[in-house]
Amino acid sequence: MPQPSQELNENKFEELQTKVMGDVAGSMGLLMAYIGDRLNLYKTLAKLGVATSEKLAESTELEERYVLEWLSANASAGYVNYDSDSSSFSMSPEQTVIFAQEGHPACMQGFFQAVFSTYLDESKVTDVFRSGRGLPWSDHHSCLFCGTERFFRPLYAANLIENWLPSLEGTVAKLESGGKVADVGCGHGSSTILMAKAFPNSTFHGFDFHQPSIEHARSRAEDAGVANNTVFEVVTAKEFPGTEYDLVTIFDALHDMGDPVGASSHILSSLKDDGSFMVVEPAAGDSLEDNLHPLGLIYYAFSTMICTPASRAQEIGLALGAQAGEKRLSDVLRQGGFTRIRRASETPTNMVLEARP
Ligand SMILES: C[S@@+](CC[C@H](N)C(=O)[O-])C[C@H]1O[C@@H](n2cnc3c(N)ncnc32)[C@H](O)[C@@H]1O
Repeated sequence: MPQPSQELNENKFEELQTKVMGDVAGSMGLLMAYIGDRLNLYKTLAKLGVATSEKLAESTELEERYVLEWLSANASAGYVNYDSDSSSFSMSPEQTVIFAQEGHPACMQGFFQAVFSTYLDESKVTDVFRSGRGLPWSDHHSCLFCGTERFFRPLYAANLIENWLPSLEGTVAKLESGGKVADVGCGHGSSTILMAKAFPNSTFHGFDFHQPSIEHARSRAEDAGVANNTVFEVVTAKEFPGTEYDLVTIFDALHDMGDPVGASSHILSSLKDDGSFMVVEPAAGDSLEDNLHPLGLIYYAFSTMICTPASRAQEIGLALGAQAGEKRLSDVLRQGGFTRIRRASETPTNMVLEARP
Protein backbone atom coordinates (compact mmCIF):
# COMPACT_ATOMS: atom_id res chain seq x y z
CA MET A 1 0.00 0.00 0.00
CA PRO A 2 1.42 3.49 -0.83
CA GLN A 3 2.60 5.40 2.24
CA PRO A 4 1.31 8.95 2.79
CA SER A 5 4.16 11.30 1.96
CA GLN A 6 3.36 13.61 4.88
CA GLU A 7 2.40 12.99 8.47
CA LEU A 8 -1.33 12.69 9.02
CA ASN A 9 -2.88 15.82 10.54
CA GLU A 10 -5.47 14.63 13.10
CA ASN A 11 -7.67 17.73 12.84
CA LYS A 12 -7.76 17.69 9.07
CA PHE A 13 -8.42 13.95 9.14
CA GLU A 14 -11.38 14.30 11.50
CA GLU A 15 -12.74 17.17 9.46
CA LEU A 16 -12.62 15.05 6.31
CA GLN A 17 -14.12 12.04 8.09
CA THR A 18 -17.04 14.17 9.31
CA LYS A 19 -17.56 15.56 5.84
CA VAL A 20 -17.51 12.13 4.23
CA MET A 21 -19.91 10.72 6.84
CA GLY A 22 -22.26 13.58 5.95
CA ASP A 23 -21.95 12.60 2.28
CA VAL A 24 -22.74 8.96 3.08
CA ALA A 25 -25.77 10.06 5.13
CA GLY A 26 -26.84 12.25 2.20
CA SER A 27 -26.55 9.39 -0.28
CA MET A 28 -28.78 7.17 1.90
CA GLY A 29 -31.20 10.05 2.48
CA LEU A 30 -31.47 10.50 -1.27
CA LEU A 31 -32.28 6.80 -1.69
CA MET A 32 -34.99 7.07 0.99
CA ALA A 33 -36.36 10.14 -0.78
CA TYR A 34 -36.46 8.30 -4.11
CA ILE A 35 -38.30 5.34 -2.53
CA GLY A 36 -40.75 7.72 -0.88
CA ASP A 37 -41.53 9.17 -4.28
CA ARG A 38 -41.95 5.77 -5.93
CA LEU A 39 -44.30 4.57 -3.18
CA ASN A 40 -46.24 7.83 -2.90
CA LEU A 41 -45.32 8.11 0.79
CA TYR A 42 -44.51 11.83 0.93
CA LYS A 43 -47.56 12.97 -1.00
CA THR A 44 -49.80 10.80 1.21
CA LEU A 45 -48.17 12.02 4.44
CA ALA A 46 -48.46 15.63 3.29
CA LYS A 47 -52.15 15.08 2.53
CA LEU A 48 -52.80 13.37 5.89
CA GLY A 49 -51.07 16.18 7.80
CA VAL A 50 -50.05 14.03 10.77
CA ALA A 51 -49.87 10.23 10.71
CA THR A 52 -48.55 7.26 12.64
CA SER A 53 -46.74 4.58 10.65
CA GLU A 54 -49.92 2.46 10.86
CA LYS A 55 -52.04 5.22 9.37
CA LEU A 56 -49.55 5.97 6.59
CA ALA A 57 -49.18 2.25 5.79
CA GLU A 58 -52.94 1.85 5.64
CA SER A 59 -53.37 4.89 3.37
CA THR A 60 -50.61 3.76 0.97
CA GLU A 61 -51.51 0.04 1.21
CA LEU A 62 -47.95 -0.81 2.23
CA GLU A 63 -46.41 -3.02 4.92
CA GLU A 64 -46.33 -1.09 8.21
CA ARG A 65 -42.97 -2.36 9.50
CA TYR A 66 -41.18 -1.13 6.37
CA VAL A 67 -43.04 2.17 6.46
CA LEU A 68 -41.96 2.71 10.08
CA GLU A 69 -38.31 2.06 9.21
CA TRP A 70 -38.52 4.41 6.24
CA LEU A 71 -40.17 7.12 8.35
CA SER A 72 -37.47 6.70 11.00
CA ALA A 73 -34.72 7.17 8.39
CA ASN A 74 -36.53 10.25 7.08
CA ALA A 75 -36.94 11.72 10.55
CA SER A 76 -33.19 11.19 11.13
CA ALA A 77 -32.47 12.99 7.86
CA GLY A 78 -34.78 15.89 8.75
CA TYR A 79 -36.97 15.12 5.73
CA VAL A 80 -40.05 14.56 7.96
CA ASN A 81 -40.78 15.52 11.57
CA TYR A 82 -41.38 13.11 14.45
CA ASP A 83 -43.51 13.71 17.54
CA SER A 84 -42.52 11.25 20.27
CA ASP A 85 -45.61 11.92 22.45
CA SER A 86 -47.99 10.69 19.77
CA SER A 87 -45.49 8.49 17.85
CA SER A 88 -46.59 10.31 14.74
CA PHE A 89 -44.93 11.92 11.74
CA SER A 90 -45.65 15.05 9.72
CA MET A 91 -44.17 17.31 7.05
CA SER A 92 -43.56 21.05 7.28
CA PRO A 93 -44.50 23.29 4.29
CA GLU A 94 -40.77 23.42 3.36
CA GLN A 95 -40.39 19.62 3.45
CA THR A 96 -43.59 19.30 1.43
CA VAL A 97 -42.28 21.57 -1.37
CA ILE A 98 -38.99 19.71 -1.69
CA PHE A 99 -40.28 16.13 -1.43
CA ALA A 100 -43.92 16.18 -2.51
CA GLN A 101 -44.86 19.23 -4.56
CA GLU A 102 -44.57 18.01 -8.14
CA GLY A 103 -44.03 20.86 -10.61
CA HIS A 104 -42.67 23.34 -8.03
CA PRO A 105 -39.23 24.64 -9.20
CA ALA A 106 -37.77 23.63 -5.81
CA CYS A 107 -39.22 20.09 -5.80
CA MET A 108 -36.17 17.81 -5.94
CA GLN A 109 -37.76 14.49 -6.88
CA GLY A 110 -36.83 14.67 -10.59
CA PHE A 111 -33.27 15.45 -9.52
CA PHE A 112 -33.22 12.43 -7.17
CA GLN A 113 -34.53 10.26 -10.00
CA ALA A 114 -31.73 11.42 -12.33
CA VAL A 115 -29.08 10.86 -9.61
CA PHE A 116 -30.49 7.42 -8.87
CA SER A 117 -30.30 6.51 -12.57
CA THR A 118 -26.55 7.16 -12.52
CA TYR A 119 -26.12 4.58 -9.74
CA LEU A 120 -28.04 2.07 -11.84
CA ASP A 121 -25.70 2.76 -14.78
CA GLU A 122 -22.45 2.55 -12.80
CA SER A 123 -21.18 -0.65 -14.45
CA LYS A 124 -21.74 0.78 -17.95
CA VAL A 125 -19.65 3.82 -17.03
CA THR A 126 -16.81 1.91 -15.36
CA ASP A 127 -16.69 -0.16 -18.58
CA VAL A 128 -16.13 2.94 -20.74
CA PHE A 129 -13.40 4.19 -18.37
CA ARG A 130 -11.54 0.97 -19.26
CA SER A 131 -12.40 0.76 -22.95
CA GLY A 132 -12.26 4.47 -23.76
CA ARG A 133 -15.46 4.07 -25.77
CA GLY A 134 -18.48 6.34 -25.40
CA LEU A 135 -21.86 5.62 -23.81
CA PRO A 136 -24.77 6.91 -25.88
CA TRP A 137 -27.55 8.87 -24.20
CA SER A 138 -29.97 6.15 -25.39
CA ASP A 139 -28.12 3.44 -23.42
CA HIS A 140 -28.90 4.96 -20.03
CA HIS A 141 -31.63 3.73 -17.70
CA SER A 142 -35.02 5.24 -18.60
CA CYS A 143 -35.10 6.85 -15.13
CA LEU A 144 -32.63 9.39 -16.53
CA PHE A 145 -34.93 10.59 -19.30
CA CYS A 146 -37.90 10.99 -16.93
CA GLY A 147 -35.77 12.51 -14.17
CA THR A 148 -34.26 15.04 -16.60
CA GLU A 149 -37.69 16.11 -17.79
CA ARG A 150 -39.13 16.27 -14.30
CA PHE A 151 -36.26 18.30 -12.96
CA PHE A 152 -35.72 20.69 -15.87
CA ARG A 153 -39.37 21.44 -16.73
CA PRO A 154 -40.10 23.51 -13.57
CA LEU A 155 -36.78 25.35 -14.04
CA TYR A 156 -37.76 26.24 -17.60
CA ALA A 157 -41.32 27.08 -16.51
CA ALA A 158 -39.92 29.57 -14.00
CA ASN A 159 -37.39 31.22 -16.35
CA LEU A 160 -37.79 30.62 -20.06
CA ILE A 161 -40.75 32.83 -20.99
CA GLU A 162 -40.35 35.42 -18.23
CA ASN A 163 -36.58 35.94 -18.28
CA TRP A 164 -34.56 34.05 -20.86
CA LEU A 165 -36.42 34.86 -24.09
CA PRO A 166 -36.86 38.55 -23.18
CA SER A 167 -33.10 38.74 -22.62
CA LEU A 168 -32.51 38.04 -26.35
CA GLU A 169 -32.45 40.94 -28.82
CA GLY A 170 -35.90 41.45 -30.41
CA THR A 171 -36.89 37.78 -30.20
CA VAL A 172 -40.12 38.08 -28.20
CA ALA A 173 -41.65 40.52 -30.71
CA LYS A 174 -40.86 38.12 -33.56
CA LEU A 175 -42.41 35.19 -31.70
CA GLU A 176 -45.51 37.19 -30.82
CA SER A 177 -46.16 38.11 -34.44
CA GLY A 178 -45.33 34.64 -35.77
CA GLY A 179 -41.82 33.21 -35.97
CA LYS A 180 -40.13 29.92 -36.72
CA VAL A 181 -38.16 28.19 -33.98
CA ALA A 182 -36.00 25.05 -33.77
CA ASP A 183 -35.36 23.47 -30.36
CA VAL A 184 -32.39 21.15 -30.89
CA GLY A 185 -31.71 18.23 -28.51
CA CYS A 186 -35.22 18.88 -27.19
CA GLY A 187 -35.51 15.57 -25.27
CA HIS A 188 -39.05 15.22 -23.92
CA GLY A 189 -39.87 18.66 -25.33
CA SER A 190 -40.46 20.58 -22.06
CA SER A 191 -38.91 23.77 -23.43
CA THR A 192 -40.52 23.39 -26.89
CA ILE A 193 -43.99 22.98 -25.39
CA LEU A 194 -43.61 25.91 -22.99
CA MET A 195 -42.63 28.19 -25.88
CA ALA A 196 -45.40 26.83 -28.13
CA LYS A 197 -47.99 27.58 -25.44
CA ALA A 198 -46.71 31.11 -24.86
CA PHE A 199 -46.47 32.00 -28.58
CA PRO A 200 -49.40 30.43 -30.45
CA ASN A 201 -48.63 32.43 -33.66
CA SER A 202 -45.19 30.81 -33.98
CA THR A 203 -44.19 27.32 -35.10
CA PHE A 204 -41.85 25.19 -33.02
CA HIS A 205 -39.74 22.34 -34.37
CA GLY A 206 -38.35 19.98 -31.73
CA PHE A 207 -35.37 17.90 -32.89
CA ASP A 208 -33.58 15.11 -31.04
CA PHE A 209 -31.80 11.97 -32.18
CA HIS A 210 -33.36 9.86 -29.39
CA GLN A 211 -36.51 8.30 -30.81
CA PRO A 212 -38.28 7.41 -27.51
CA SER A 213 -37.81 11.01 -26.32
CA ILE A 214 -39.35 12.40 -29.51
CA GLU A 215 -42.35 10.05 -29.21
CA HIS A 216 -42.79 11.18 -25.61
CA ALA A 217 -42.53 14.85 -26.68
CA ARG A 218 -45.26 14.36 -29.31
CA SER A 219 -47.67 12.90 -26.79
CA ARG A 220 -46.83 15.64 -24.24
CA ALA A 221 -47.56 18.26 -26.92
CA GLU A 222 -50.96 16.63 -27.61
CA ASP A 223 -51.77 16.68 -23.87
CA ALA A 224 -50.69 20.32 -23.62
CA GLY A 225 -52.90 21.32 -26.56
CA VAL A 226 -50.01 22.56 -28.72
CA ALA A 227 -49.96 19.81 -31.37
CA ASN A 228 -51.02 22.45 -33.94
CA ASN A 229 -47.92 24.60 -33.67
CA THR A 230 -45.30 21.94 -32.81
CA VAL A 231 -43.52 19.37 -34.96
CA PHE A 232 -41.15 16.80 -33.46
CA GLU A 233 -38.61 14.88 -35.51
CA VAL A 234 -35.88 12.31 -34.86
CA VAL A 235 -32.72 13.84 -36.35
CA THR A 236 -29.25 14.93 -35.29
CA ALA A 237 -28.20 18.48 -34.49
CA LYS A 238 -26.06 18.62 -37.65
CA GLU A 239 -28.79 17.41 -39.98
CA PHE A 240 -32.08 18.91 -38.87
CA PRO A 241 -34.17 20.28 -41.73
CA GLY A 242 -35.39 23.81 -42.44
CA THR A 243 -33.95 27.27 -42.98
CA GLU A 244 -34.95 30.84 -42.13
CA TYR A 245 -35.41 30.14 -38.42
CA ASP A 246 -35.86 33.23 -36.25
CA LEU A 247 -34.59 31.40 -33.21
CA VAL A 248 -32.70 28.16 -32.57
CA THR A 249 -32.41 26.94 -28.98
CA ILE A 250 -30.39 24.26 -27.24
CA PHE A 251 -31.20 23.51 -23.61
CA ASP A 252 -28.56 21.62 -21.67
CA ALA A 253 -27.50 19.55 -24.67
CA LEU A 254 -24.69 21.36 -26.57
CA HIS A 255 -22.02 19.90 -24.30
CA ASP A 256 -23.53 16.40 -24.76
CA MET A 257 -22.92 16.55 -28.50
CA GLY A 258 -19.95 14.91 -30.17
CA ASP A 259 -19.46 17.77 -32.59
CA PRO A 260 -20.83 20.96 -31.03
CA VAL A 261 -18.83 23.03 -33.54
CA GLY A 262 -20.46 21.20 -36.46
CA ALA A 263 -23.87 21.59 -34.78
CA SER A 264 -23.27 25.35 -34.32
CA SER A 265 -22.22 25.71 -37.93
CA HIS A 266 -25.37 23.89 -39.13
CA ILE A 267 -27.49 26.08 -36.82
CA LEU A 268 -25.88 29.22 -38.25
CA SER A 269 -26.77 28.13 -41.79
CA SER A 270 -30.37 27.46 -40.71
CA LEU A 271 -30.91 30.92 -39.14
CA LYS A 272 -32.22 34.11 -40.72
CA ASP A 273 -29.59 36.86 -40.95
CA ASP A 274 -31.13 38.58 -37.93
CA GLY A 275 -31.88 35.33 -36.07
CA SER A 276 -30.61 34.28 -32.65
CA PHE A 277 -29.13 31.10 -31.24
CA MET A 278 -29.90 30.67 -27.53
CA VAL A 279 -27.70 28.22 -25.66
CA VAL A 280 -28.64 27.22 -22.11
CA GLU A 281 -25.77 25.51 -20.33
CA PRO A 282 -24.88 24.66 -16.73
CA ALA A 283 -23.41 27.55 -14.74
CA ALA A 284 -19.63 27.15 -14.54
CA GLY A 285 -16.47 29.16 -14.17
CA ASP A 286 -13.81 28.95 -16.87
CA SER A 287 -11.35 26.80 -14.94
CA LEU A 288 -11.48 23.78 -12.65
CA GLU A 289 -10.45 25.83 -9.63
CA ASP A 290 -13.50 28.09 -10.17
CA ASN A 291 -15.80 25.07 -9.89
CA LEU A 292 -14.59 23.42 -6.69
CA HIS A 293 -17.86 23.64 -4.74
CA PRO A 294 -20.95 21.42 -4.25
CA LEU A 295 -22.66 22.55 -7.48
CA GLY A 296 -19.42 21.87 -9.35
CA LEU A 297 -19.31 18.39 -7.80
CA ILE A 298 -22.87 17.68 -8.92
CA TYR A 299 -22.20 18.83 -12.48
CA TYR A 300 -18.80 17.13 -12.82
CA ALA A 301 -20.28 13.89 -11.46
CA PHE A 302 -23.23 13.99 -13.89
CA SER A 303 -20.74 14.83 -16.59
CA THR A 304 -18.59 11.80 -15.68
CA MET A 305 -21.59 9.50 -15.74
CA ILE A 306 -23.58 10.96 -18.66
CA CYS A 307 -22.38 13.99 -20.64
CA THR A 308 -18.73 13.13 -21.36
CA PRO A 309 -19.46 9.51 -22.42
CA ALA A 310 -22.48 10.75 -24.44
CA SER A 311 -20.26 13.08 -26.45
CA ARG A 312 -17.56 10.41 -26.82
CA ALA A 313 -20.19 8.08 -28.34
CA GLN A 314 -20.66 10.48 -31.28
CA GLU A 315 -18.44 11.58 -34.18
CA ILE A 316 -15.50 13.81 -33.16
CA GLY A 317 -16.34 13.25 -29.47
CA LEU A 318 -15.18 16.68 -28.34
CA ALA A 319 -16.37 15.95 -24.77
CA LEU A 320 -16.85 19.51 -23.56
CA GLY A 321 -18.25 18.26 -20.24
CA ALA A 322 -20.96 19.90 -18.18
CA GLN A 323 -18.57 22.48 -16.69
CA ALA A 324 -17.10 23.85 -19.93
CA GLY A 325 -17.59 27.49 -18.87
CA GLU A 326 -18.51 30.55 -20.90
CA LYS A 327 -15.10 31.05 -22.53
CA ARG A 328 -14.84 27.51 -23.93
CA LEU A 329 -18.49 27.53 -25.04
CA SER A 330 -18.01 30.89 -26.77
CA ASP A 331 -14.94 29.49 -28.59
CA VAL A 332 -17.05 26.59 -29.86
CA LEU A 333 -19.76 28.99 -31.08
CA ARG A 334 -17.14 31.18 -32.78
CA GLN A 335 -15.58 28.16 -34.48
CA GLY A 336 -19.09 27.37 -35.73
CA GLY A 337 -19.13 30.81 -37.40
CA PHE A 338 -21.05 32.98 -34.92
CA THR A 339 -19.52 36.42 -34.43
CA ARG A 340 -21.54 38.12 -31.69
CA ILE A 341 -21.74 36.11 -28.47
CA ARG A 342 -22.82 37.37 -25.07
CA ARG A 343 -24.19 36.12 -21.77
CA ALA A 344 -27.81 37.20 -22.02
CA SER A 345 -29.14 35.83 -18.74
CA GLU A 346 -28.35 33.47 -15.88
CA THR A 347 -29.72 31.67 -12.83
CA PRO A 348 -27.73 30.20 -9.95
CA THR A 349 -27.55 26.91 -11.89
CA ASN A 350 -27.52 27.95 -15.56
CA MET A 351 -26.07 30.45 -18.01
CA VAL A 352 -27.86 31.63 -21.14
CA LEU A 353 -25.70 32.63 -24.09
CA GLU A 354 -27.00 34.43 -27.15
CA ALA A 355 -25.05 33.88 -30.36
CA ARG A 356 -25.80 35.88 -33.51
CA PRO A 357 -24.47 35.62 -37.08
C1 LIG B 1 -29.57 16.49 -21.00
S1 LIG B 1 -30.68 16.13 -22.28
C2 LIG B 1 -31.57 17.65 -22.41
C3 LIG B 1 -32.92 17.45 -23.04
C4 LIG B 1 -33.77 18.71 -23.17
N1 LIG B 1 -33.14 19.74 -23.97
C5 LIG B 1 -34.11 19.27 -21.81
O1 LIG B 1 -33.60 20.30 -21.43
O2 LIG B 1 -34.92 18.63 -21.11
C6 LIG B 1 -29.66 16.13 -23.73
C7 LIG B 1 -30.42 15.79 -25.00
O3 LIG B 1 -29.57 16.02 -26.13
C8 LIG B 1 -29.84 15.02 -27.09
N2 LIG B 1 -28.68 14.97 -28.00
C9 LIG B 1 -27.39 14.74 -27.66
N3 LIG B 1 -26.61 14.78 -28.75
C10 LIG B 1 -27.41 15.04 -29.81
C11 LIG B 1 -27.17 15.22 -31.21
N4 LIG B 1 -25.95 15.15 -31.71
N5 LIG B 1 -28.23 15.49 -32.00
C12 LIG B 1 -29.48 15.58 -31.48
N6 LIG B 1 -29.77 15.42 -30.16
C13 LIG B 1 -28.73 15.15 -29.33
C14 LIG B 1 -30.09 13.77 -26.26
O4 LIG B 1 -30.79 12.77 -26.97
C15 LIG B 1 -30.89 14.35 -25.09
O5 LIG B 1 -32.27 14.30 -25.33
